[in-house]
Amino acid sequence: MQIIDGKLVSKTIREELSNKIKEAQERGVQFKLSVIIVGNDPASEIYVSNKAKGCHEVGILSETVKMSENTTQEELEKAILERVNDNSVTGILVQLPLPKHLDSQSALKLIPPEKDVDGFSDGNVGKLTLFKNDALFSCTPFGMIKLLEHYNIPLAGKHAVVVGRSNIVGKPMSLMLLNKDCTVTTCHSRTPNLADFTKNADILVCAVGKKHLITEDMVKDGVVVLDAGINRVDGKIYGDVDFDGVSRKASYITPVPGGVGPMTITMLLYNTYLAGINNETRRV
Ligand code: GUN
Repeated sequence: MQIIDGKLVSKTIREELSNKIKEAQERGVQFKLSVIIVGNDPASEIYVSNKAKGCHEVGILSETVKMSENTTQEELEKAILERVNDNSVTGILVQLPLPKHLDSQSALKLIPPEKDVDGFSDGNVGKLTLFKNDALFSCTPFGMIKLLEHYNIPLAGKHAVVVGRSNIVGKPMSLMLLNKDCTVTTCHSRTPNLADFTKNADILVCAVGKKHLITEDMVKDGVVVLDAGINRVDGKIYGDVDFDGVSRKASYITPVPGGVGPMTITMLLYNTYLAGINNETRRV
């Protein structure tokens, strides 16, 4: 059994990215990420500060636009549109969740797919569905694909079972694995007898948010397991997979923490790099 080390892969990708960014900047390509945060949610503040740090580390210019808790929809949309119309800004991200009085869907709709470095927009999800190569992918599933690639885990013809169908992780992950020629089964809260599906998985992805939903008896020998769950219980973080049990059968498995988690911000930096490069291509 091999542990998939997300921290190590993340570090490697950031180093590669840093070199690519330097090279592109020497040709005059600009990279700038605008992160818009509304209110004072402590978890969001930590995420946003880690995003800014990550940008700094790889040489991407970043700005954090901090807006007060009682920002109006109009003010938020104005702030987004200013960045949409600013050619020096190549990536825009609105940190979620927004305060309840704001309509996140209509705000996010203002971000054009080419600046949507979260990969959440209709345009990017459409491009992913159509297998277009200029799509920006949702960062957590994209990170999981990079982990599989980094460990040279074969995907074509494999049966991938994705548990969870969120728009941000499960659904795009199913599509990305389909793009990699897996046979994909997507399971969710209404799937009866989950184990009947998970037992047949060559690749098992779990993104549900339920501590230790997947146990040893639910997987087959040699399974590759990617766990995107982050469940905080009594101050400790647990995955959706019971690591101790499942790792006895798995050929590769991500720990929680230290597996999928460290990849998310790294793929945001990667998307911001891609957005800058795509922008350069469009200008030529
Ligand atoms: N809040 C928690 N994770 C994320 C993310 O990946 N993107 C955005 N925009 N907000 C988040």
